[in-house]
Amino acid sequence: MSDRQRHFDRRGSLYRTLGLVPLMFRNARVLEVAPGSGQNSLYVASTGPRELVLVEPNPVAQQDIRSLYNTPGISPIQPRLVASTFQDFTPLDQFDIVLCENWLGHSPAERQLLRKLGTLVAPAGILVVTTISPVGILPNILRKALTCRIDRPEASFTERTGLLTRAFETHLSTIPAMTRTCTDWVHDNVMNPAYLGILLTIPMVLEDLGGTCAVLSSSPRFASDWRWFKALWGSQKDFNGHFLNEYHANLHNFLDYRRLLPPRDPRLNQDLEEAAWTVGKVVTSLERSVYHGVGDVGHQRRQVEAAVTAVQQNIADLHVEARLAIAEFLELFRFDAVTPEQVARMSSFQALFGRETLYVSLEKNP
Ligand SMILES: C[S@@+](CC[C@H](N)C(=O)[O-])C[C@H]1O[C@@H](n2cnc3c(N)ncnc32)[C@H](O)[C@@H]1O
Repeated sequence: MSDRQRHFDRRGSLYRTLGLVPLMFRNARVLEVAPGSGQNSLYVASTGPRELVLVEPNPVAQQDIRSLYNTPGISPIQPRLVASTFQDFTPLDQFDIVLCENWLGHSPAERQLLRKLGTLVAPAGILVVTTISPVGILPNILRKALTCRIDRPEASFTERTGLLTRAFETHLSTIPAMTRTCTDWVHDNVMNPAYLGILLTIPMVLEDLGGTCAVLSSSPRFASDWRWFKALWGSQKDFNGHFLNEYHANLHNFLDYRRLLPPRDPRLNQDLEEAAWTVGKVVTSLERSVYHGVGDVGHQRRQVEAAVTAVQQNIADLHVEARLAIAEFLELFRFDAVTPEQVARMSSFQALFGRETLYVSLEKNP
């Protein structure tokens, strides 16, 4: 936000990739759920919507939103801030565009809220939500597993932050244009016990919303559609089925942000997504053992090894950097004792980060 033009360019590019050019916002009734500090809403406000409603229950975020929009000349319109949870939000009318990013995960209660978002979109309106596949987040799930090996649960929060920063600073410094500090990253990712709650896949979104909405686009935009438009009528349009096929053919590309590989056998990628979920589950169990004494740590470690080995077998046809990274993880993870310095020196695994957040736009059936 220190460079407003750059911020607006980024937001404009995101919406453009999602099929929402500025004209679509103009005069539209727009709802943003869980806007946080409201900085992203500022771009939408600049496009001239008829109405902009922000639903945010956090008092600190509400104050940020108020201060932001009180800045003279910052916005041509004032949004209506609804200071409540989304659960308690019961508007009288639907909206042309509904936005909700980086909030909902996969728990039954959250998926219920995802379906509620869908009901608030007017016929032919647009819904934008974010998803995260366990494939995209797998490198960080493995960093969580390494955290379980090097952390000292009895140490103070500050000491643990220092120890984990020492381990992962070299990893983060491999990412060009990284804007967050290593300390923030350590708190939000490897120290955050709720981190994996944010997982939500495209098949889940389509299961919940596919009956009333058709996928418009995504960011990153991985799906192409070479079908002839003349064949796209009635049930043959099948935009969601087509998108799902493209998702499964490209899912391996979420594992390593450095590479873009040709599509591969969708069944292999379905297995990969399942294998990555299993890694997430067993790492969660390992965390419970290490931090809360639930279950046997040795057993959970073996479960993690087995689950990562299944991923390793699945990606045997992928590029060498990813294969070496996973092999290096397994080698270190199997050691009797692991130190932050060893994690910091992981020459192959260090630079493996996935493509995490995937935005998707959906058009409500007319
Ligand atoms: C990770 S932040 C995302 C903020 C913003 N959308 C972004 O992408 O930068 C999650 C937001 O969800 C909000 N939130 C949490 N529980 C909520 C609820 N029950 N209803 C609406 N928003 C909620 C939080 O206050 C926070 O602003």
